[in-house]
Amino acid sequence: MSDHLIIFDTTLRDGEQSPGASMTRDEKVRIAKSLERLHVDVIEAGFPIASPGDFEAVMAVAREIRESTVCALARAVTRDIDRAAEAIRPARSGRIHTFIATSPIHMQEKLRMNPEQVLESAVKAVKYARKFTDDVEFSPEDAGRSEPDFLCRVLEAVIAAGARTVNIPDTVGYNLPAQFGGLVRTLRERVANSDKAVFSVHCHNDLGLAVANSLSAVLDGARQVECTINGLGERAGNAALEEVVMAVRTRRDLFSCDTRIDTTQIVAASRLVSNITGFAVQPNKAIVGANAFAHESGIHQDGVIKKRETYEIMRAEDVGWVANRMVLGKHSGRNAFRTRLKELGISFRSDDEFNSAFDRFKELADKKHEIFDEDIQALVTEEGLEGVDEKHKLVSLKVCSETGVKPRARITLSVAGKPQSAEADGSGPVDASFRAIEAVLASGAQLLLYSVNNITSGTDSQGEVTVRLELAGRIVNGHGADTDIVIASAKAYLNALNKLETPSGRAHPQTGTPI
Ligand code: KIV
Ligand code: ZN
Repeated sequence: MSDHLIIFDTTLRDGEQSPGASMTRDEKVRIAKSLERLHVDVIEAGFPIASPGDFEAVMAVAREIRESTVCALARAVTRDIDRAAEAIRPARSGRIHTFIATSPIHMQEKLRMNPEQVLESAVKAVKYARKFTDDVEFSPEDAGRSEPDFLCRVLEAVIAAGARTVNIPDTVGYNLPAQFGGLVRTLRERVANSDKAVFSVHCHNDLGLAVANSLSAVLDGARQVECTINGLGERAGNAALEEVVMAVRTRRDLFSCDTRIDTTQIVAASRLVSNITGFAVQPNKAIVGANAFAHESGIHQDGVIKKRETYEIMRAEDVGWVANRMVLGKHSGRNAFRTRLKELGISFRSDDEFNSAFDRFKELADKKHEIFDEDIQALVTEEGLEGVDEKHKLVSLKVCSETGVKPRARITLSVAGKPQSAEADGSGPVDASFRAIEAVLASGAQLLLYSVNNITSGTDSQGEVTVRLELAGRIVNGHGADTDIVIASAKAYLNALNKLETPSGRAHPQTGTPI
C-alpha cells in the first residue's frame, strides 16, 4: 500500500458552505495559492454549476495553480459534469468529483430514487466524467449511514466505470472512530476491484470526531483525507487539515504513510482563511490557536525551559509560528510593496487597483511604522479586491466617548457617489456608529456576530473587525481593519452591507438552497 497520504483540501468548496463563509473569486485564488504553498495534493475549488461566479472562481483557480490538482464538484448529472469539466479545463492537472447519496434516508426522502436508479446514475456519471479527464473521484454521499452491502456494489461498479478515487463521506458526522475505520477496512476487503482506486475519507465534525474518524480510516487503509483549513465547513465543519497532517507526522511510529505538506506554511494558511472568512480561530484550537504552544503554568514553563519535549510534542516553528516579521515600513516604495504582494500570492487586475492599495499602504505606514504580512493581507482583503460593488463607502466618522456620557457618532457616507450624513447615540461607540449607518441606509439587516482581533501584537496593531449580517435569509461576513477599532467596525459593517447588495446567486450542492 502507498506510503503517500493524499491531502485533498476542500476549504474552497465544503468550507465555503459554512453560513457566511462564501468567498469571491479573488479570495479563492489567494487561498488556493496558499494551499499550493502548503503542497496540498488536491484543491477542491468549488461547485461550478452553482452560479456563474462559482464557475469563474474554479476556472481562475485552475488557471493560477500549477503544483496541485484542481478539482470541481458535480452532482451525478451531465449538466453539472459539463460545467465542472469546462471550469477545470485550464488546470495543469484537473479532477472531477461527482457524488450521489446512497443512504436509505437520502435515497428515499431527498432523491426519491430507488437503489438501482442511484447505482445506475453513479456509473453513468463516472463514465461521463471520464470523457473529460482520467482523474475522476466518486462519493457515495452519507456513506456513513449507508448499507455496507449496497456501498460495496456501488463502489465496485464506479471503480469498474473508471473512478480513480472513491471517497467515503461521513456526511452528517455520525460515526465513531473504530466504526468508521472498520467500514473503510470492510469496503477495501469486500470490493473486488478495490486495489484499482484510492480510498478517501471525508468526515464532518458534528460529534467532534472528524479528525479522529479520518485518522482511524487512515490506519485502516484510506490514502486520501478530505479536510479544510481550521476545520471550516458545513455545520460543525470538516476534519481540520492542520490536525490530520500534524497527527500523522507526529505519530510516525503508528502511521505507515505521510503527507507532502510543508508544515511551516500552516499558520499562514490558517490566518489567511480566518482573515478572509471572518471565522476567528479559537485560542485553544490545536496547532493554530494562539495558545497552542503557550505554557502558562509554572511547572510547565520550568519543564519546557529544561527540556522542551517534557511538555511539547511538536515544535511551534515547524507549523509556522514565528514572531511577526517586519516586512515593510514608511520608506518602502512601490517595488518593495509589489514584490511582497507577489510573494504572498496577491495580484491585481489593474494598475488602478494596485495604486489604490499602495496609497492605503502608505496611509497605514504613517500611522503604524512597522507593517507585517498580516497587515498587508488585511489591507488587500479590504481593498475592493473582493469583487464586491462598493456602493456605500465611509467618508468620515466622529465618535464622542466619555465616562458618564452616552456615546454619540456622526457619520458621513458616500452612497452611490453622493454624501449623506447622520448622527446617533448608542450604548458604546461601536453601537452608536452602527446606528448612525442605519440612520442613513435603513438596511434592516440583523447583526449576528461582531468580533475584533488584533492583527499583530502591540497596542499600535490594526484591529480587524468581522461583522456577520443576515437579511432575508442570506448571511454575509464583512471585514474592516484600522488602527482605530471603531473605524474598523464601521468599515466592516459597510462591507457586509455592500456584500448583501451584491447577489451571490449560489446554491448549496447538497440541498439546493441559496448560499
Ligand atoms: O459531506 C459530504 O458528503 C460532501 C460530499 C459532496 C462529498 O461534502
Ligand atoms: Zn461535506
